[in-house]
Amino acid sequence: MQISPSILASDFANLQSELEAVGNADWAHVDVMDAHFVPNLTLGLPVVEALARVSPIPLDCHLMIDDPDRWAPGYAEAGAGSVTFHVEAARDPVSLARAIRSEGARAAFAVKPGTDFAPYEDLLPEVDMVLVMTVEPGFGGQSFMADQMAKVRQVRSAVARHGGDVWIQVDGGVSADTIGQCAEAGADVFVAGSAVYGADRAADAVEELRELARRHG
Ligand code: DX5
Ligand code: ZN
Repeated sequence: MQISPSILASDFANLQSELEAVGNADWAHVDVMDAHFVPNLTLGLPVVEALARVSPIPLDCHLMIDDPDRWAPGYAEAGAGSVTFHVEAARDPVSLARAIRSEGARAAFAVKPGTDFAPYEDLLPEVDMVLVMTVEPGFGGQSFMADQMAKVRQVRSAVARHGGDVWIQVDGGVSADTIGQCAEAGADVFVAGSAVYGADRAADAVEELRELARRHG
């Protein structure tokens, strides 16, 4: 059970100390948005490069961008430990996942709430993780979509059928109230933005979420 706090909910004027505040987490989730694939703009390659130099934990980059085939391997090269692209935006997901892995990072693909997983099941041997979005990508602080738990179960049984160690990540509205059902459905990597950075002590929120996930997993 791994926790990946989303720095989207942190203080962008103090990213280094915000990363240090969640040094007990497994990953730091970095939301890259390009104002095309999603209607919001955050940060890009130069900032990720700088964060990778100072972060106490590996970066888990979630690319909500058009043309990931062109840009995603650069995030691996910049030092991200894991790079997730959206299947809806990728032209050649197999080559893309291989390019990310060849830069030394874990490769993952994400599916939006309205995207079926089944057409992408054959990609499982090419990736290290599948991200099931539990909100419409673009903004932090949205309500958790419990109807996506059916998809998490579907991915979990596909992973069991294919064999191999593919992690299942959930992202969006994950909190102490919702993490239990995610773990029960088969998720094992949990992104949380507001639930971590909105807490009095971010590190305590990380521990609490991990404990709840363990209890329900
Ligand atoms: C949404 C992002 C999420 C977001 C999660 O598009 O992908 O990572 O930061 O934020 P919370 O946990 O506040 O829903
Ligand atoms: Zn994200």
